[in-house]
Amino acid sequence: GRGDTDPKQQQLDPLRQDRESGYLTTQQGVRVDHTDDALSVGARGPTLLEDFHAREKVTHFDHERIPERVVHARGAGAYGYFRPYDDSLAEYTAAKFLTDPGTRTPVFVRFSTVAGSRGSADTVRDVRGFATKFYTEQGNYDLVGNNFPVFFIQDGIKFPDFVHAVKPEPHNEIPQAQSAHDTLWDFVAEQPETLHAIMWLMSDRALPRSYRMMQGFGVHTFRFVNAEGRGTFVKFHWKPALGVHSLVWDECQQVAGRDPDYNRRDLWDSIEAGDFPRWELGVQLVPEEQEFDFDFDLLDSTKIIPEEQVPVRPVGEMVLDRNPDNFFAETEQVAFHTANVVPGIDFTNDPLLQLRNFSYLDTQLIRLGGPNFAHLPVNRPLADVRTHQQDGFGRHDIPHGQAFYTKNTLGGGCPALADEEVFRHYTRREEGDTLRIRSDSFKEYYRQPRMFWRSMTPTEAEHIVSAFAFELGKCKRVEIRSHALEQLVRIDPDMASRVAGRLGLPTPEAGPVEDVPLSPALSQVKDPPATIA
Ligand code: HEM
Repeated sequence: GRGDTDPKQQQLDPLRQDRESGYLTTQQGVRVDHTDDALSVGARGPTLLEDFHAREKVTHFDHERIPERVVHARGAGAYGYFRPYDDSLAEYTAAKFLTDPGTRTPVFVRFSTVAGSRGSADTVRDVRGFATKFYTEQGNYDLVGNNFPVFFIQDGIKFPDFVHAVKPEPHNEIPQAQSAHDTLWDFVAEQPETLHAIMWLMSDRALPRSYRMMQGFGVHTFRFVNAEGRGTFVKFHWKPALGVHSLVWDECQQVAGRDPDYNRRDLWDSIEAGDFPRWELGVQLVPEEQEFDFDFDLLDSTKIIPEEQVPVRPVGEMVLDRNPDNFFAETEQVAFHTANVVPGIDFTNDPLLQLRNFSYLDTQLIRLGGPNFAHLPVNRPLADVRTHQQDGFGRHDIPHGQAFYTKNTLGGGCPALADEEVFRHYTRREEGDTLRIRSDSFKEYYRQPRMFWRSMTPTEAEHIVSAFAFELGKCKRVEIRSHALEQLVRIDPDMASRVAGRLGLPTPEAGPVEDVPLSPALSQVKDPPATIA
């Protein structure tokens, strides 16, 4: 190793192959003296199948590619650590890594764009992923967030539709990695729940100057659970020590041409230079009794909890201090999953989160070639792993013992523990009729986008107007532009008329904004009308 005292690095060091000394060999460890000419009959004759080195070399090359991530394909990652400031969260969560200031938990973070393919440019208008794997003593915890605090849709069942609208169009795979196209704006105009995240997407937040200058958000309302089993709602926030900074659109376009690796390079170079990026983790806590005290639903991922209502409480610090050794082995093979939680952190019924909890493992089974990707070095927990799982492609451990099932009397299995270290799913009461209908408390779409717009400085507002004009101006179907304007008018007529002016279109009449339920109505969501099923 490199004298590293970090336990994750100590785990990885023996797996890191030193290519700077030693001999060239085959995969079987047989030394090779010549790798430039294949074995042939005579100097100009046919190549021989007998040349196992040539065959192995070419065969392995032929199999180098794996599927890129279906979203967030382009990313950059780094290792580091997280340390809580004090034990003050112990009242709310049993998670040790958040409450024991003596514990320095190793992390791996991957930043990403969402829509572009693996080779696309960094400085595009897009959301950025901000995914953190904490290798805690109680198992791996993944906080799989974004640099926006809100998402585009409310229910995970719409995710395939949304991504189909956002990604390059299927017939010609244009546009590569930009949001300006008919399918996106068609989707947006028809689905007003997208509007709040769309405001963020049209703002400077979608053009981060550096990954080191980005906020991160867990987005969903999650649940802390303390040692007594009491729950508290929680939203997670990352705040960059360097502050939030953006490029302007013209810079983005130029940089995308001159240095498409701009954000990736900046992260790498700053870590190599010892100028380690830092973030403060903060939480917004809402006692369960206050679940219905808001004029939106806490389970709706298209809403923020305004900080005036619930301040962000600082919790600890994360530092990224080490670049990976190998992009593919580490940054590409890392597998984040919202369902990777540890004791003290649990889910809520946010319907977006619930389907994410299905989706990540499912996609990784194909992306990483089978059920054993948790054995890959970057994914391997520091906590002990003892499952009763057997076999599968790419097994890297050697389970020993005769019997892999519980209550075995032969050896090889392990008892299920009953101590306080185990993960216990939060106990709560659920009831209701089976329905395919979203609660009325999710159906107000315009108030928070309006709040966002009205909190902008004149310069920021101008950037948003130009972004809308640029984006909508690229739509080939002119009706899509007017449909989108009809939504913008409901957010703010002045904003809509400025955009319309740039597009040379009339500002639509402010259509009727649906009657919106306010907080007292939220309590009715527990008993939705059974007749609509
Ligand atoms: C990948 C964030 C919603 C499915 C990712 C990644 C991030 C992320 C950061 C990249 C992980 C990495 O670096 O490896 C979010 C956030 C969401 C959201 C913050 C909303 C709050 C969803 C939903 C679904 C979904 C609703 C599906 C129903 C996926 C899939 C991947 C992915 C399949 C690729 C994972 C892989 O191949 O390893 N997401 N996502 N996401 N997300 Fe999401």
